[in-house]
Amino acid sequence: MQEVRHYLQFKDFTREEYEYLFARTRWIKERFKRYEPYRPLNDRTLAMVFEKHSTRTRVSFEAGMNQLGGSVITLMTRDTQLGRGEPIEDVARVITRMVDIVMIRTFEHEIIERFAEYSRVPIINGLTDEYHPCQILGDIFSYIEHRGSISGKTVAWIGDSNNVCHTWMQAAKIFDFNFHVASPPGYELEPERGESYESVHLEVFNDPMEAAHGADLVTTDVWTSMGFEEETNERKQVFADFCVDAEMMAAAKPDALFMHCLPAHRGEEVESEVIDGPQSVVWDEAENRLHTQKALMEYLLLGKIKN
Ligand code: CP
Ligand code: NVA
Repeated sequence: MQEVRHYLQFKDFTREEYEYLFARTRWIKERFKRYEPYRPLNDRTLAMVFEKHSTRTRVSFEAGMNQLGGSVITLMTRDTQLGRGEPIEDVARVITRMVDIVMIRTFEHEIIERFAEYSRVPIINGLTDEYHPCQILGDIFSYIEHRGSISGKTVAWIGDSNNVCHTWMQAAKIFDFNFHVASPPGYELEPERGESYESVHLEVFNDPMEAAHGADLVTTDVWTSMGFEEETNERKQVFADFCVDAEMMAAAKPDALFMHCLPAHRGEEVESEVIDGPQSVVWDEAENRLHTQKALMEYLLLGKIKN
């Protein structure tokens, strides 16, 4: 039997696989824009397990699977036996006998790894405390759509070195771009994550203006991620100088783009003059979650298809 492929971290796929996925995404997106049905996943079922809130991930996976001809079951932890302490290994064994593919949004990354270990079908990471690969899949596709290849470019991350930041770091190595990270003291990249990346791709700054200097893309995220809510007040003070405003965008290249995975807090990590301004591509970024994840599900379930 062929080994089941999962998508748990960005580094699970090679550059060549990403090039393939982006080519498929373009094809799928064009057909979708022309209202031409494409239903290769007829009779396939996606189960989604949410242990945290979601808007974009839920809608993009659900709409995407329906558009590909399949169906979707959405499970919120609190409504299932998981919420009453059923072991994740048992849940994985049961669910994956009934459906063809599973997307999970959860807390510690180790939970999704355990789920995948007991799964008979592909598992997709829809966000863990440590990683958010589907987000960066859509973000890099969006960058390429707007500006062409991201290789050799500079991406500046301003703020919390969180799950989205870790995933950008993995992407920097695969796509060979420079990744600048500026976080306040006490919230820097964890050394063990930084160390596993070649320094040629990663540069760490204390000053966000320096990190943004000369960047081709400036990106940020909320100061407090899901699961860390009790730190909100403290973080608001510590991160006060890490707001992406017009001055920071002016330090980047004149044609720099701004991205944010959303949801955003205007007046905290980003000013509305930036996120609602001409350099922002956040709505394309959100839309591309749909198209890239359709290509991802097609690849995990059907393998490579000739365009
Ligand atoms: N960016 C993102 O994953 O959004 P949701 O939390 O709304 O799914
Ligand atoms: N870092 C954020 C991303 C939300 C899409 C969080 O984990 O809450």
